[in-house]
Amino acid sequence: MVNYKDLGLVNTREMFAKAIKGGYAIPAFNFNNMEQMQAIIQAASETKSPVILQVSKGARQYANGTLLRYMAEGAVEYAKELGWEHPEIVLHLDHGDAFETCKSCIDLGFSSVMIDGSHLPYEENVALTKKVVEYAHQFDVTVEGELGVLAGVEDEVSSDHHTYTNPEEVIDFATRTGCDSLAISIGTSHGAYKFTPEQCHVDPQTGRLVPPPLAFDVLDAVMEKLPGFPIVLHGSSSVPQDEVDTINKYGGALKAAIGIPEEQLRKAAKSAVCKINIDSDSRLAMTAAVREVFATKPAEFDPRKYLGPARENMKKLYIHKIKNVLGSDGKAAN
Ligand code: G3H
Ligand code: 13P
Ligand code: ZN
Repeated sequence: MVNYKDLGLVNTREMFAKAIKGGYAIPAFNFNNMEQMQAIIQAASETKSPVILQVSKGARQYANGTLLRYMAEGAVEYAKELGWEHPEIVLHLDHGDAFETCKSCIDLGFSSVMIDGSHLPYEENVALTKKVVEYAHQFDVTVEGELGVLAGVEDEVSSDHHTYTNPEEVIDFATRTGCDSLAISIGTSHGAYKFTPEQCHVDPQTGRLVPPPLAFDVLDAVMEKLPGFPIVLHGSSSVPQDEVDTINKYGGALKAAIGIPEEQLRKAAKSAVCKINIDSDSRLAMTAAVREVFATKPAEFDPRKYLGPARENMKKLYIHKIKNVLGSDGKAAN
């Protein structure tokens, strides 16, 4: 049993309280490998942004959960080496699917866990989330619950339909479970194909597809029921069209990949939404850079020559998100 505090990590409680008051959101970036982790920590250190490193089930299967946890411990020391004296880094389990998964991550040193009971009948979701909270709070680990179902298909996280969060349930859910934050469904979804072209209209100036707006009325109703309660948005990649274009230019085949427009996320970040989850955009940035090297320098075979540019491109993306979308730059202690 390791406590996250001994690893220099922090939980989300204070971070979220400050973010709600300050009208910004904390970036929650998924990581599966060293280059992603380095890019996240470099971006957060340079901008002095609090940051959440998230580990999904797919990441644990791909890279090994224990290894990722040690990388997060290393990330704290790395941030200090980069000149960030008091790093504010959370290690978070993304989409925990069972009590045992959450418990094993808490015991390993995670400072925050999500228990995703959103696909369960309401009472089962309440019971499971409450069980995780009771265990986690003994160690001051914070817990994210979820109400409402996101649409979209992405590896382990899949659903072909969505149900917006019912604002009538949130007080009961938050009170009975004791969760520290709540992920809600307002029209975001996982992956790079969040909307079909038929759901969008064409912007006459850019010729790009513009998706329908998020259900801000649902968010407003949730905030009215639970004033000041930390809200989380999953599926918040914007699917940058320049990265999609680069991928397609150099042999990729991404068709009509559509994300959440940044201005919608900017608006959400100013509200009680204090954690915004981004994974797909980082995948796109990495793939675009790797494809470009492979296509333009076919003789290159040193992985550092393509993973290095991939890391740079992800770092650029993370800094852009922090500064221009979430507004979390300069919000951490030096
Ligand atoms: O919420 C989904 C994240 O993007 C994680 O995806 O399970 O493929 O690692 P993954
Ligand atoms: P994206 O697929 O939009 O990046 O969402 C990631 C996410 O919600 C991780 O939990
Ligand atoms: Zn998610």
